[in-house]
Amino acid sequence: MPSREEITYFGAGPALLPTEVLKTAAASLVDYNNTGLGLAEHSHRSELATGILNTTKDDLAKYLDVPNDYEILFMQGGGSGEFSATVYNMVNVWVERRKQKILKELGVEESKIPENDLVQQLQKAVDEELKIDYVVTGSWSLKASQEAARLVGAEHVNVVADARKINDVDGVEFPGFPKILEPNGDDSPLVVADMSSNILSRRIPIKNYSLIFFGAQKNLGSTGITVVIIKKNLLPPVVGTPAPTLLRKLGLPIGPIVLSYETIAKNNSLYNTLSIFDVYIAGQVLKSLLATFTDKVDGQQAVADKKAQLIYAALDAHPESFKVVPAKDARSRMNICFRVTHLESVDESEKLFLKGAVEKGLTGLKGHRSVGGIRASNYNSIPLTGAEKLAAFIEEFAKTPK
Ligand SMILES: Cc1ncc(COP(=O)(O)O)c(C=O)c1O
Repeated sequence: MPSREEITYFGAGPALLPTEVLKTAAASLVDYNNTGLGLAEHSHRSELATGILNTTKDDLAKYLDVPNDYEILFMQGGGSGEFSATVYNMVNVWVERRKQKILKELGVEESKIPENDLVQQLQKAVDEELKIDYVVTGSWSLKASQEAARLVGAEHVNVVADARKINDVDGVEFPGFPKILEPNGDDSPLVVADMSSNILSRRIPIKNYSLIFFGAQKNLGSTGITVVIIKKNLLPPVVGTPAPTLLRKLGLPIGPIVLSYETIAKNNSLYNTLSIFDVYIAGQVLKSLLATFTDKVDGQQAVADKKAQLIYAALDAHPESFKVVPAKDARSRMNICFRVTHLESVDESEKLFLKGAVEKGLTGLKGHRSVGGIRASNYNSIPLTGAEKLAAFIEEFAKTPK
């Protein structure tokens, strides 16, 4: 059996965690800081748990330069849970803001207008104006759009682009923030991003987003917590959640309370039992990142870019053996997806590639079951040497006699 040091694991999530972090976390699981209790046994409402939570929040804010007008929430339910949560919460924000606009146009307070009149006007607005646009860049954003259609009806959901139809393989990433979505006054769209794959790997213009979410298990920590960075003006006191009775009348879904950003924010992420152990692991990863990169996420970005360049350069050098996303500026630096076309049969080529890779200690390269092909998830904890090993193997494989 290979040792941990001999393996570079390119799995798509859960992903590798730094060994030192795991060792510290393992010890804390048995006895946290000589308290005689393991961290997973301590109350999530204890002082030490709150300390871990707040320090992790602060370190994340520091590392990413999260502006003060954003709140950081630790949620449960994974990225998939956020596909639902973003719909419930953003539709709520839309309804509440639209209601305020109607009242302003009428020049009356809510208590002065017959309820039915308000509901009628809001219903018309919902029917005619409520649209959630999705830019589909891969199977996850497709799933997100499908969840939105399931919750609010397909008539309110619009897939504005589908990158998979253009590039023919998965594995794309926005090279930067789309200019057209930059905030421009009160009527700007609410921009939401799933950054599960690339968080902490590049500087993000957070100010351009209403909300960013990501599962911790790829770039931050272990499975079990999902982070939401939300603009405070989407929360009370600026925007409250519409009354359930109103949502029911409008035929809109009422989300579970545990997915309500307002509720989670009000309780500093402790509305219900949160896995403080998972928050601790994320906190340890952040501590180590802050110690390694004095220029914070910019330093990590330089490494992430270099790793991706190495692997793509090896693939591009052998177009007869590998098929990669053709548009170079749209290629994901984090999920490097490709097909192996070395032999006549792609299937046989990929089997051979995976077998050879495992022999070199390069594991987890098989693509997602619904997509196929090869996927090297080049997340933050893959060291530069891991990317170098993969690039060398790609070169070597291309020379395999046919
Ligand atoms: C980009 C992205 N979003 C969402 C998900 C779903 O996350 P979860 O399994 O935590 O629900 C994944 C899972 O791999 C993902 O890669």
